[in-house]
Amino acid sequence: MIMSLATLVWAGDIQQVIADWGKPGKGSEGLSWWPTSFSRDIIPIPCHSHNDYWRRVPLFSALRRGLISVEADVWLFDNELYVGHDTSSLTRNRTLSSLYINPLVDILSKQNPSTEFTDNNTRNGVFDTDPGKSLVLLIDVKTNGRETWPHVVAQLEPLRKRNWLTVFDGTSVVPGPVTIVGTGNAPFNLVTANQTYRDYFFDAPLDSMWEDPSGQLSKIMAWDDSELAGEEKFADRPFQLPPSRKRSTSDDGNAPIAPLLDIYNTTNSYYASASFGDTVGRMWRGHLTDQQLNIIRGQIQGAHRRGLKARYWDLPNWPIGMRNRVWNILVREGIDILNVDDLKDASRGVW
Ligand SMILES: *[C@@H]1O[C@H](CO)[C@@H](O)[C@H](O)[C@H]1NC(C)=O
Ligand SMILES: *[C@@H]1O[C@H](CO)[C@@H](O)[C@H](O)[C@H]1NC(C)=O
Ligand SMILES: *[C@@H]1O[C@H](CO)[C@@H](O)[C@H](O)[C@H]1NC(C)=O
Repeated sequence: MIMSLATLVWAGDIQQVIADWGKPGKGSEGLSWWPTSFSRDIIPIPCHSHNDYWRRVPLFSALRRGLISVEADVWLFDNELYVGHDTSSLTRNRTLSSLYINPLVDILSKQNPSTEFTDNNTRNGVFDTDPGKSLVLLIDVKTNGRETWPHVVAQLEPLRKRNWLTVFDGTSVVPGPVTIVGTGNAPFNLVTANQTYRDYFFDAPLDSMWEDPSGQLSKIMAWDDSELAGEEKFADRPFQLPPSRKRSTSDDGNAPIAPLLDIYNTTNSYYASASFGDTVGRMWRGHLTDQQLNIIRGQIQGAHRRGLKARYWDLPNWPIGMRNRVWNILVREGIDILNVDDLKDASRGVW
């Protein structure tokens, strides 16, 4: 019952969905607007939003719009995980627990009430219109991965103990109301350390998955090497390596470039993501070249062959016409989730 991306984008509806969203209950961002009957009208849409920090509780504003994927940047200080774009935006009470985990427990408690008539073990998701739809919480680790990730794992406990997380049980992936995905400095080796149980998944590098969409023998793709200048540029942003580079799977950004192994699959990863600007490049006069299209098509194909959901971040967002053209192309090429980070700015006309 999820609304398809093609329907939304081709009808030019995403802007409308965002603009109209949550009209009842405006001004209140607490749980008060979330009696289960309220979410009756929310149609989940395959879009992703990043850090709605202008909102007091960013999770609620995203869910009110029906977004099925939200992202929080987390920073470890004094054994607590703070949420914010950068260190200057952090405050004591904006933590992963206060902004995401606890509100999710509250919402899901309402969606899964204990009554004498239910078995007290329902796993309804956040959307009444599609209770089987899992909400993705993408956790972007900003501080040292090895130190920070164990804190993320620990803070998921309220969701874990209620059986509300998507898990890999050693054999298969069992979807739950919330799917946790680690990105940024989240270390692949820690995310996948346990072979028999995982309730978090990796954001795999889409730019490592390109395969020739024509199905013929791969031809070497020309790539502007000036774009690659300075390894340090990528040192702390491991997902931005252009397609010609092979990425190490270690969490150490300075590790030697490892041979590319086909290690990413649905048991360890959920998304396959890349920066649009870094992998596809700039658009010339608002148009994608055949070579750029070939990159997109080959990357999406590689992600899908692994069962992963393809996602680009850092999409061109202005002018609006160009942004819409990119959305249309991505949808046509089979992208699974659209990043809509820029909608607030776009609708406020800050340009
Ligand atoms: C954080 O504290 C400030 C000041 O007390 C308050 O205005 C704000 O609503 C709090 N934010 C959250 C997410 O609790
Ligand atoms: C569910 O839990 C409630 C409260 O703990 C209890 O009263 C009820 O009997 C339980 N329902 C079932 C079907 O076990
Ligand atoms: C994997 O996770 C399960 C469930 O938390 C735990 O019982 C088991 O000991 C873990 N295995 C390892 C090798 O850490």
